[in-house]
Amino acid sequence: MLDLLAHKIHDEIRQGEAYAPFIKDETPYQKKFYIESYGCQMNFSDSEIVASILNDSGFGATRNFAEADLVLLNTCSIREKAEQTVRKRLTEFRKIKMQKPGMLVGVLGCMAERLKAKLLEEEKLVDIVVGPDAYRSLPGLIDEAEGGQKAVNVLLSRDETYADISPVRLNSNGISGFVSIMRGCNNMCSFCVVPFTRGRERSRDAYSIVNECSDLFSRGYKEVTLLGQNVDSYYFTPERADHLAQEAGSVTFALLLEMVANISPELRVRFSTSHPKDITDDVLHVMARYENICNYIHLPVQSGSTRILQMMNRTYTREWYMAKIDRIRKIIPDCGISSDIIAGFCSETEEDHQATMTLMEYSSYDLSYMFFYSERPGTLAHRRYKDDVPEGVKKRRLQEIVDLQHRLSRESNAKDLGKTFKVLIEGDSKKSEADWMARNSQNKVIIFPKGNSGYAKGDYVMVKVLDCTKATLLGEIV
Ligand code: 5AD
Ligand code: SF4
Repeated sequence: MLDLLAHKIHDEIRQGEAYAPFIKDETPYQKKFYIESYGCQMNFSDSEIVASILNDSGFGATRNFAEADLVLLNTCSIREKAEQTVRKRLTEFRKIKMQKPGMLVGVLGCMAERLKAKLLEEEKLVDIVVGPDAYRSLPGLIDEAEGGQKAVNVLLSRDETYADISPVRLNSNGISGFVSIMRGCNNMCSFCVVPFTRGRERSRDAYSIVNECSDLFSRGYKEVTLLGQNVDSYYFTPERADHLAQEAGSVTFALLLEMVANISPELRVRFSTSHPKDITDDVLHVMARYENICNYIHLPVQSGSTRILQMMNRTYTREWYMAKIDRIRKIIPDCGISSDIIAGFCSETEEDHQATMTLMEYSSYDLSYMFFYSERPGTLAHRRYKDDVPEGVKKRRLQEIVDLQHRLSRESNAKDLGKTFKVLIEGDSKKSEADWMARNSQNKVIIFPKGNSGYAKGDYVMVKVLDCTKATLLGEIV
């Protein structure tokens, strides 16, 4: 239950979402695929690349797995629970496959990478296993599987960025789109499986990123979120002599932000995730200079204790993190800040735990994603340290962190009462068609009555905050 509570955060609500294209696809496909995605935004974005590759090889998307010829699960390994969820789902597909023996089942993403061919042995119904860098080989693997062979490709790559593949937008609201700018991670945080499942860090061609964002804007999108495990270390060096970029030279994250922001003042730019050790003043100054770069930074702290941070291999101290928060508040005074926090990492004492709580207070996060430590096989922490904080203690600490965050979120929302924000309308409010759901620059959700003002989805509108709950602002058009 506690874990559920801790996971009840906006993008995790999408876990296991079945995907269908945003724009109705009239192509008469011979076969159908069904895809479910788990894990981070990056994984959801990868499913859009997979959909594009499958469309090109004759598979159309369906939301109904019973009519699918190919069922895919794009999986996550970040915590044990994420893997258990997928295993459970696979047993459900087993029943369907018994009635429909021709149906192929594929596992994609991080679990595919971590477990490799073992998945085929353990989960008898799995036909195809494909790691995050091998999606281009999917059509060939499907052919193999159709011929009765088990098909696996989990090769990681040093240069694959899928730069030339135009993602099929799935389950999109048609207003905000996600654009992957890099893949992999070189950080080696000791708790994290990502460097093993997603490989070395590599940056995507800056010009293909700008083109994708421009294309979204020309199709009515008003917001792009640039995605990477560690966006601040984005660095693109053009290689081809004939490349336009050759004149411009290398592109840092600060420059990339500027290039995307310059597409149009009407296009909002967001990004995730930042690493406290890498986010530069340059990035903060660019954010301050462009009104359309949203004032919101996801800056995971993980722990507030310098000793634990060192064991986590985060390469910053508590004081360094505090100085970063000060810097952000100085350069962008109204910046929204959120965090990821892990409770009960190896050897964590009550004192370490209290240090996390006081650092949360210091940072006054608007929102946090909170987890208890889950040991992942093969990680540095698994090899070096003992997972020695008892589960009951982990859960109690996590609950204290969750309670504190709820108070901080309430306080942050209360501070907005009476303020007026420019917000972007994303669609109807979930609860009522009479209300709009929008977000302000700081990424807070705001709900307000449509009235007779004639605004539509995708419009910017000024809204005054009249009331709030822990998670949402309530307002009216001014
Ligand atoms: N246990 C618990 N939480 C983890 N995270 C990453 N690895 C683990 C783990 N082994 C959390 C971190 C990270 C977020 C995406 O997931 O807080 O920032
Ligand atoms: Fe999960 Fe990390 Fe893989 Fe994303 S990159 S799917 S969070 S393990």
